[in-house]
Amino acid sequence: MTRTRGDRTPAWSQLQAHYQTVGQGLALKEAFAHDAQRFARFSQEAPYLFADLSKNLLDAQAQDLLLQLAQQAGVFEHRDAMFAGQAINNTEQRAVGHALLRNPPIPPADRAWTATEEIANERALVHPTLDAMLAFAETVRADAGITDVVNIGIGGSDLGPQMAVLALDAFALSGKRLHFVSNVDGHELAAVLKHLKVESTLFLIASKTFTTIETMTNARSAKAWFTAQGGTDTARHFAALTTNVAAAKAFGISTTFGFWDWVGGRYSVWSAIGLPLAIAIGAAGFRDFLAGAHAMDEHFRTAPPEENLPLRLGLLDVWYRNFHGFTSRSIAPYHSALRRFPAYLQQLEMESNGKRVDASGEALPFGTSRVLWGEPGTNGQHAYYQMLHQGTDVVPVEFIAVKKARHSLPTHHELLLSNVLAQAQALMVGKVDAGGHKHFPGNRPSTFLLLDDLTPASLGALIALQEHRVFVSGSIWGINSFDQWGVELGKVLAKDVQARLASGDTSGLDASTAGLLARLRG
Ligand code: F6P
Repeated sequence: MTRTRGDRTPAWSQLQAHYQTVGQGLALKEAFAHDAQRFARFSQEAPYLFADLSKNLLDAQAQDLLLQLAQQAGVFEHRDAMFAGQAINNTEQRAVGHALLRNPPIPPADRAWTATEEIANERALVHPTLDAMLAFAETVRADAGITDVVNIGIGGSDLGPQMAVLALDAFALSGKRLHFVSNVDGHELAAVLKHLKVESTLFLIASKTFTTIETMTNARSAKAWFTAQGGTDTARHFAALTTNVAAAKAFGISTTFGFWDWVGGRYSVWSAIGLPLAIAIGAAGFRDFLAGAHAMDEHFRTAPPEENLPLRLGLLDVWYRNFHGFTSRSIAPYHSALRRFPAYLQQLEMESNGKRVDASGEALPFGTSRVLWGEPGTNGQHAYYQMLHQGTDVVPVEFIAVKKARHSLPTHHELLLSNVLAQAQALMVGKVDAGGHKHFPGNRPSTFLLLDDLTPASLGALIALQEHRVFVSGSIWGINSFDQWGVELGKVLAKDVQARLASGDTSGLDASTAGLLARLRG
């Protein structure tokens, strides 16, 4: 596999030239007026969703050059190397196999997952592990004695399952309350524990490494609470979801569901980390969730470049970041059940692509991950849309709307859908007003993702779409999207500061840290 960093391809310079001459001045209203086919040309069907890209600052030539950029940077070879199980996570010498978790069971010989014997052996465990995890989920669902399930995990061991459980609330079994505790701040765990009874609670300790300080601290406190309340049957009330089964056993948990180091934390909702979701929506629902993601994998793997939605979105991200210079993207899900989706995407994109060096360690001369942020519509409209419409920075918005409502309240859904359409329209068309304050410049870009229905399968597809678009921009930037060294320094320093908070020793500290530490101890 040959990767060429995007800025070293001929297409990159051509895109720069195109941006200077045409791209930066593209007027969306005119582009629509001149091209009756613009909506069709810049929209894309993909499994379980439809994307309208036509309100983006893109013309046919930019689109074409971006596709050439992908070709010249080796994105397709890189993609195929990922699906073939090569160790593309080069700084950790690991394959990147989350897509494998959603493959239907097919005889090993029929699939091109042949990277190493070790991985081939582990691959054989994917379906038996999934079956065991889903059987456990069904047992919990059938167990009327368990009313509360507490997932203790952080980062990928929290955001994915939490986001998905909220998103699929319409499919969830009633009678089970799911709680998510992630923060080391004891207020969070304490607020959950005060409503629980030992005999009706199941704790899931979710940690890929089973060493993360926040999760281990919460797990120890949960176990201490359990014992203090007279609980004894840890086999019934605790389960661990981890690649480090030995550590879970040493912690005293005998019910464990494993996964593998080739599943990145932020890509792990498809693994045993998805157990809370499986408990909420059941084994069949979870299999639908996997199937939806698999359909998107197949689309990404096989659709021609010009009809490949993850590719087109990833290229748009590069176009905006590196040529237009936009530094953020706002996520606007017009569905309250998707309220944690922006937070989930923050980890997915910013932990994957928030890198300042390429895969070989060389400092990058261009920007990488944009800042992702957002709130569900229409709440965001009454908070920060002022800035989106009239602020000094252009922030491309990604709207997500769902055609079908799963409630029967009259009027609400029409209002919701009217608002999402109107916002995308207003950003683009603007409004002329000589007075200034009431002037809307317009020409502000947005992408519109439309789902027919929010179901396990469509959510799976939506998440996989985002995973793959992050892959595409990371691939063009020449970075390793699958490590996260940037989280290490803070962890190490926190240990040192913890000891100093206890001892009061401020020697060698900068004056600010020393001053704050002294105030915290005083
Ligand atoms: O924040 C760093 C990180 O390693 C994430 O990548 C990961 O999702 C999270 O911590 C939790 O890690 P673990 O599942 O090993 O507890």
